[in-house]
Amino acid sequence: MEHFSTGRLTAERLHEAHLADLVALHRDADVSRYLGGVRTPEVTKTYLATNMAHWDQHGFGLWTLRTQDGAFAGRAGIRHILVDDVDEIEIAYAFKREFWGLGFASEIASALTDFGLSHLELPSLIGIVYTGNGASRRVLEKSSYLLERSTIRHGEDVVIYRKRR
Ligand SMILES: CC(C)(COP(=O)(O)OP(=O)(O)OC[C@H]1O[C@@H](n2cnc3c(N)ncnc32)[C@H](O)[C@@H]1OP(=O)(O)O)[C@@H](O)C(=O)NCCC(=O)NCCS
Repeated sequence: MEHFSTGRLTAERLHEAHLADLVALHRDADVSRYLGGVRTPEVTKTYLATNMAHWDQHGFGLWTLRTQDGAFAGRAGIRHILVDDVDEIEIAYAFKREFWGLGFASEIASALTDFGLSHLELPSLIGIVYTGNGASRRVLEKSSYLLERSTIRHGEDVVIYRKRR
C-alpha cells in the first residue's frame, strides 16, 4: 500500500524527495524531544536510506503525511524493531509542531493499526514511548494498546504498549 488516505491525511511511501521535509522535522527540538534528540541533516539522510530499504525488504514501512491542502504534516508507519533481541513491529508517528493537538496522530494510529493487524495479519503491534511523552501514550491508549512493561532503551525510560490482533 504505497498510498492511502484517512479522513484528513494522505500518506505516501517514503522516498528520496522527502529528505528536505524530514530534515526540517527532525531539526525541531520540540518534535525530537522524545525521539532521541535533534538529528543533523546527515543523520536524517541515513535515516531515510534505512527506512527506504525497509520498504524494499518488507513491503511496508514509513509514509509521509500531507494535509488536504498538500502541506507536509509529518511521518508515520509500522516497521520492524529489535526489542531485547526479539523482532517486533512498532507503530511510529511524528508531526510538525503546528499540527499537534488536532487529532492527526490518533487518526493515523487508528489507520496503521488496522492496516497492520487486519490487512497484514500481524499477530501484534507495539508502541515504544518515552515514559514522559503523555500525548503519545494517550494516542496509543485511544487505539486500545495496552501497557505491557517499562524498560530502559538507549539510556531512556520507556514504556511498551501492545495491541494484539
Ligand atoms: C505525540 C504526537 C504524535 C501527538 O500528536 P497529536 O496529533 O497532537 O495527537 P492527537 O491530537 O491525536 O492526540 C493527543 C492526545 O493526547 C492528549 N495529550 C496532549 N498532551 C498530553 C500530555 N502532556 N499528557 C497526556 N495527554 C496529553 C490530547 O489531549 C489528546 O487526547 P484526547 O484526544 O483524548 O484529547 C505529537 O505531539 C508529536 O508529533 N510529537 C513529536 C514526535 C513524537 O513524540 N512522536 C511519538 C514518539 S513515540
